[in-house]
Amino acid sequence: MRVWELRRAFELDALEAGDRPAPEPCRGEVVLKMRAASLNYRDTLVVHGAYGPRNTLPLIPVSDGVGEVVAVGDGVTRAAVGDRVCPMFFQSWLGGPPSQAKFAASLGGPLDGVLCEFMRVAEDGIAKVPAHLSDAEAACLPCAALTAWRAVIGQGRVRPGDVVVVQGTGGVALFAVQFAKLAGARVIVLSSTDEKLARARDLGADETINYRSTPGWDMAVKDLTGGEGCDHLVELGGADTLERSIRATRIGGTISLIGVLSGAAAAIALPLIVMRHLRLQGITVGSRDDFEAMARAIDRHQLRPIVDRVFAFGQVPAAFAAFEAERPFGKLSIRIG
Ligand SMILES: NC(=O)c1ccc[n+]([C@@H]2O[C@H](COP(=O)([O-])OP(=O)(O)OC[C@H]3O[C@@H](n4cnc5c(N)ncnc54)[C@H](OP(=O)(O)O)[C@@H]3O)[C@@H](O)[C@H]2O)c1
Repeated sequence: MRVWELRRAFELDALEAGDRPAPEPCRGEVVLKMRAASLNYRDTLVVHGAYGPRNTLPLIPVSDGVGEVVAVGDGVTRAAVGDRVCPMFFQSWLGGPPSQAKFAASLGGPLDGVLCEFMRVAEDGIAKVPAHLSDAEAACLPCAALTAWRAVIGQGRVRPGDVVVVQGTGGVALFAVQFAKLAGARVIVLSSTDEKLARARDLGADETINYRSTPGWDMAVKDLTGGEGCDHLVELGGADTLERSIRATRIGGTISLIGVLSGAAAAIALPLIVMRHLRLQGITVGSRDDFEAMARAIDRHQLRPIVDRVFAFGQVPAAFAAFEAERPFGKLSIRIG
């Protein structure tokens, strides 16, 4: 079968098309014919060797994808041939709170990822996807959507009427916008371009702020909220944004710490957090139970992931290059097969 893999080094130029034997399912396993993948910021870090000290070569990168069950091993009860499923980002986090053991087995590093024609996974490590989604859309769910789901709904518990601020218009961000709207929140989106902000308003954002032309966006959020600040903030920027995020959030509000796009270390005046009674919650994707709850909501509300562009399987390096250069609105997907 055809795969894309890193064989000689962790760098984009070393991402090469290869051949591996097609897998057969063992007891308790299924084989998926992969139909689509989608890129996350993490995948670019993995390819550049900047993520996951336990990652080893050769490695098939990319965590998020969708496939059809084409073979089942003995004893399989959770899946049947023909089911369309996503392999879970964390193969061993089935439910309950996270733990070191549940974090150990993630796809696209250290485990092989989804850029392959066929994939062998434990039946426990998959979940069905809503029927109304295209393959390119369904491929976006395991990491980007689930992270946003837990930030806003699972852990965030956003309620109708809450004010939610979302940073950017990338993959996690637009799912956060969609889930916050689903919960009945008033959503404020930050972006670097007015064109993307207009698209965010089309998606349901109630208010928008250009964080380039309004670098004091924390004050703008306060102005929009009667001086109080937002109830919940989805923090993706990291070093350059965290302090403003703290100032933009109301006393007693919540910040979901998800990304570190501008850097991983920030010097913060801690009394800002103490005196404002803030809750800072770290979010790292989610469990299979979380995924199934999210998939039910997506199905019930016929919500559709925002896919900016779809590449062919032969264009994987071009897809990575575009992801890094173009800052897509939402997701980039790759058709497989
Ligand atoms: N903890 C987890 O489990 C988890 C899961 C998924 C992702 N992440 C992390 O979350 C971050 C986003 O991932 P992604 O895959 O959604 O990335 P992405 O699709 O590449 O989105 C990046 C977007 O973030 C916005 N952005 C960049 N710098 C910003 C800043 N200084 N202030 C505000 N917005 C900024 C930009 O939006 P505009 O172009 O609109 O300006 C950019 O398009 C990454 O750091 C990733 O590693 C963490």
